[in-house]
Amino acid sequence: MDVGESTADDPFLLPIFEQADPETAVLGVIGLGYVGLPLAVAFALHGRRVIGYDLDAHRIARIRSGTDETGEVSPPDLQRALTCGLTPTADPDRLSEARIIMVCVPTPITPDRRPDLGPLLSACAILGPRLRAGSVVVFESTVYPGVTEDICGPALATASGLVVGRDVMLGYSPERINPGDRSHRVDTIVKVVSGQGRALTEALSRLYGLLNGGLIHVAPSIRAAEAAKAIENAQRDINIAFVNEVALICERIGLSVHDVLDAARTKWNFLDFKPGLVGGHCIGVDPYYLSHLSQMIGHQPEVILAGRRLNDHMADEMADRIAFRFREVVRPILRPTVLVLGATFKEDVPDLRNSRIPQLIHRLSRHGFDVKVHDPWFAPQELASRQAVEAIGWPEETFDLVIMAVGHRVFLDRSSEAIFRLVSPGGMMADPKGLYRTAQRDPSVNYWSL
Ligand SMILES: NC(=O)c1ccc[n+]([C@@H]2O[C@H](COP(=O)([O-])OP(=O)(O)OC[C@H]3O[C@@H](n4cnc5c(N)ncnc54)[C@H](O)[C@@H]3O)[C@@H](O)[C@H]2O)c1
Repeated sequence: MDVGESTADDPFLLPIFEQADPETAVLGVIGLGYVGLPLAVAFALHGRRVIGYDLDAHRIARIRSGTDETGEVSPPDLQRALTCGLTPTADPDRLSEARIIMVCVPTPITPDRRPDLGPLLSACAILGPRLRAGSVVVFESTVYPGVTEDICGPALATASGLVVGRDVMLGYSPERINPGDRSHRVDTIVKVVSGQGRALTEALSRLYGLLNGGLIHVAPSIRAAEAAKAIENAQRDINIAFVNEVALICERIGLSVHDVLDAARTKWNFLDFKPGLVGGHCIGVDPYYLSHLSQMIGHQPEVILAGRRLNDHMADEMADRIAFRFREVVRPILRPTVLVLGATFKEDVPDLRNSRIPQLIHRLSRHGFDVKVHDPWFAPQELASRQAVEAIGWPEETFDLVIMAVGHRVFLDRSSEAIFRLVSPGGMMADPKGLYRTAQRDPSVNYWSL
């Protein structure tokens, strides 16, 4: 029941492992969300048989009917994958047909901002009894270094009764896709691949290389691959925190941070990040995995947690600055009406996870504003029930304050006049991202940007 040493290079054991021949093995994907479904579809479209398991039976039913609610897989691709090799299922027993299984379940944080490994451990508990000698389990979920081998390995060993590192081999290959990003896809992103032993790593490299024309970086160990993913997102978080801090400084001295960034980015080595709210399932979450590991091994992380604090607080800061500016420039109104445009964690995705918009709204309410939100990706009732906010369709009325919070393409496709017409005469348009900085506008509307 132990996690054995990495033994895939042992000539006596190679035949066992080769039963999971990457050229022919049936593949399994656990967790058909933003990451798992595009992966499962890509393998199916490359002619592989894929058992896609998710414990959410509703999600499986939708996928079977040809609909991906995340919007990551196009309906024609999903239809083709369903006819050529993808079997979506909520029946965990179907996983026993697969020999190489990729685990793509969420890795959230607990309310006190510690890694919540519950979904990973649950996936191991479900998968374990369905493993056979010769199976390979590759984790794609974002974790801190050591989770695959020190936590998931033993969990699989316990659940399967097999020796991990001998009967069952582990791999780790972090997913790097970016929801809503049409240019960085499974078939274009360099894939970092690692596995227990050289033979397995080579085999996994060939397997993943099928999807992206061989754009593979082999990491020297599973831990190195885990760490690479964790620092990619932590670095992004820290860089955004830096420009957010710059934005707050600029705002107080009456400078537009966007003017400052336009000038600064002309330097060849200036890092081009934009200020904004950091939400979602990755950037605002993964640094806590790294800081958790750091604290476990006795190093108090300074930069990582400073970035997190600033970004976690940015919605409050933004609400405070907008409220202050509104009171300064708009005639006194007892309970000003506010329209927030956009509710998702970023542009052009139907993803509300860890969106900072509810935080912005609640803070504005505490300032005495009467706030409604509109997001074209959601029916008002659904948005209201999922985010505990007052949601509306595209409004007919005007508002004392309009906040362009999430710059969905649907909004930008409207004329700037149509957006500014939502503001009552003498009211204010808050445009943190500076999307309408250069737009023609009615001089009676007060304009604020970071
Ligand atoms: N969303 C992204 O763009 C992105 C990018 C890179 C990496 N990641 C990482 O990939 C992992 C998955 O993220 P996601 O965005 O795809 O999550 P998601 O919430 O979109 O999808 C996860 C799916 O797993 C299912 N699930 C949860 N527990 C399960 C279990 N025990 N057995 C079977 N299914 C289970 C859920 O029902 C859900 O459908 C996370 O670690 C995340 O940090 C995400």
